[in-house]
Amino acid sequence: MNRDDEKRRAGRAALAYVEDGMIVGVGTGSTVAHFIDALATRKARIEGAVSSSEQSTRQLEAHGIAVLDLNAVGDIPLYVDGADECDPQRRLIKGGGAALTREKIIAEAAARFVCIIDAGKRVEVLGRFPLPVEVIPMARSLVARALVKLGGQPVWRDGVVTDNGNWVLDVHGLRISDPLGLERAINQIPGVVTVGLFARRRADVVLIGDQVMGGDP
Ligand code: 5RP
Repeated sequence: MNRDDEKRRAGRAALAYVEDGMIVGVGTGSTVAHFIDALATRKARIEGAVSSSEQSTRQLEAHGIAVLDLNAVGDIPLYVDGADECDPQRRLIKGGGAALTREKIIAEAAARFVCIIDAGKRVEVLGRFPLPVEVIPMARSLVARALVKLGGQPVWRDGVVTDNGNWVLDVHGLRISDPLGLERAINQIPGVVTVGLFARRRADVVLIGDQVMGGDP
C-alpha cells in the first residue's frame, strides 16, 4: 500500500471515533484532508468542527461543515490530526504544515486525541524530522542561538508566515531521548510561541492506516 492510501485509510478509520452531536477538533495536513472528506459524509450528525488552520477551515466550509470558535465551545470530546513523526509512546513531532500552535491548543482542549499517520511516520526515537518551532519574528535569531545551545541546528523556514503571523525554525540534528524535557526547555525560551513536540499532550490513539496503536475506539 502506498503512503497516500495509508493516509486515506487512517482518515476514514478516524470516523469510528466521531459520535453523533459531537464538536470535532480538526488538525491540518494531507492526512487530515482525507479525514475532512470522510467527516463530510456525517456532517448532518455532528454539531460542527473546531479548526486548526485557515487551510482546514476552507475545506470544512467547502463541505458545509460549521466551523466553531474554540472560545465559544470550551473543551471538546475529540481531536483528529496527523503528525510528522510518532514514537512508540505516541509522542509526536508536528508542525510540518506550520499549524503547530493552533494544533497544540486544540489537542489540549480535547478529551481524546486521535492521531492519523502512514507507517513512514513511525520512529523509535523522535528527531529525524526537523523539529518545528514557531517564533515571534523579532526573536528569531535569539531563539535560534538558544536552540544551538540545546544541540540543534535551526534553519529558518524562509517565506513561511504562520496563521498567527509568526515564523518557523526547523531544528535539525536532534536525537530526542527526553521529549518531555526538551518540550519544556524549548517552551521556556523567550520568543518561542510553540514547539512542535507533543509529549506532554501526546496522542491517545494512533491510527497507522487502519491499524490501531493504543486506546480503544
Ligand atoms: C501540520 C502538521 C501535520 O499534521 C503534519 O505535518 C503531517 O502532515 P501530512 O498529513 O500532510 O503528512 O503537523 O502542522
